[in-house]
Amino acid sequence: MKAPKSVFVCTECEYTSPKWLGKCPSCGAWNTLEEQLPQPAVVATRERRAQPVAPAVPISELELPTYMRSDTGMGELDRVLGGGLVQGSVVLLSGEPGIGKSTLLMQISDTLAARRRVLYVSGEESRGQLKLRAERLGVGGDSFYLLTETAIDSIIGECERLRPDVIIVDSIQTIYSDRLNSAPGSITQVRESAMAFIALAKSVGCAVILVGHVNKEGGISGPKILEHMVDAVLYFEGDRRQAYRLIRAIKNRYGSTNEIGVFEMGDRGLAEVPNPSEMMLEGRPTDSPGNCAACVMEGSRPLIAEVQALVSRTAYPAPRRTCDGFDYNRMCLLLAVLEKRLNLRFSENDVYLNVAGGMRIDEPAADLSVALALLSGITDRLVPPRLIAFGELGLSGEVRAVSHIDYRVKEAARLGFTQILLPERCIGKSLNIPKDVEVIGVKNLVDVIRVLSKKQEPPVIE
Ligand code: TYD
Ligand code: MG
Repeated sequence: MKAPKSVFVCTECEYTSPKWLGKCPSCGAWNTLEEQLPQPAVVATRERRAQPVAPAVPISELELPTYMRSDTGMGELDRVLGGGLVQGSVVLLSGEPGIGKSTLLMQISDTLAARRRVLYVSGEESRGQLKLRAERLGVGGDSFYLLTETAIDSIIGECERLRPDVIIVDSIQTIYSDRLNSAPGSITQVRESAMAFIALAKSVGCAVILVGHVNKEGGISGPKILEHMVDAVLYFEGDRRQAYRLIRAIKNRYGSTNEIGVFEMGDRGLAEVPNPSEMMLEGRPTDSPGNCAACVMEGSRPLIAEVQALVSRTAYPAPRRTCDGFDYNRMCLLLAVLEKRLNLRFSENDVYLNVAGGMRIDEPAADLSVALALLSGITDRLVPPRLIAFGELGLSGEVRAVSHIDYRVKEAARLGFTQILLPERCIGKSLNIPKDVEVIGVKNLVDVIRVLSKKQEPPVIE
């Protein structure tokens, strides 16, 4: 039978054309025509009205569903997933090339294959390359199947034959349907292939993990609708030059989206990092100005990182500013507040700000640590090495309250910090202050600058 001919539909105004056009003749938008398979004829409204499939029910009568979850063997990933991989769910895992998506999935496949049948579909690597990675990771088992195929119909056929409990598709951009004329990776192809896997997961109850490429802007490439179609969207992020990697859920129908998982890439694949704060603080200098520890909340988890600022007299007409791991505009704002409220001449200095360990902190609670690092950098006075600060800085130089103080204080105390700088308003009866920890409440920048210790003698270079 001849395959039905596809049509091209404008995503703006739904104008339909038999061939692709650069500009929509109806609404005039450019590049909005997408290939689509013709839709089956719509059943007459009257006929549909006659037979409601599932009648509406009061929410109180619904039963709480129980999800079957599988342990992936990586506690850090399980937490992000909301407590394990849910049978019948579809997860999209996205991240830059080389970040470790294939490595992670091969490692969890091995664990899952101990109790379930796993099919790993690779459209990117040959069997030889996959075997090489498997050897390196020391994985392999009889329930762990590999398939190197990119045609969706063949893959679905193989899934029906093998009946796997978990299907991993690496990557969805390489899978294509020959019923469509567009190239693999195009919006239409990605949507069609994803829909086929979603239908499979919902009909037979297997779990599917789709690997998604990222586009130039860092988002998931392919249709945005893909993110709406799946049950969970996870981002694998981190600096490829650094060993540590983060997995963050940006959508999760089966758990919280605030959670993160931390991993470290080594010779034998990814290893979990259950105590990331220790890793971030490793090798921190305690006797040079310009450093201050910060604590940010990642979901329900406090993470401690080190902010470093180098402030030096500029040799340029306009001073240089660079910022790594913190928002550039926020740094400029804090510099302006410090300059105005404390009368410090940052405009005559270059400022280089960095969060050590490749971590990214983007929570206002880190403002106070950044401000302290900058103040310490320009005044050459030390932030006491066992001091940590959390608080948001307002434009008038006031220190504003932040949330989750208890979690942050506990984590700071666990890592050996003995002085904690807090917004004064956060100190209340309900705050649990661990033994040996001194809590210093601050109202504004004038209070903050007082904690810097005496001016240091400049080092003598012989
Ligand atoms: P990979 O998992 O293929 O990344 P992705 O699928 O996200 O593109 O590989 C990640 C990188 O990690 C790759 O450059 C090689 C490196 N690597 C290790 O350092 N250790 C290992 O054990 C493995 C398997 C890979
Ligand atoms: Mg890969």
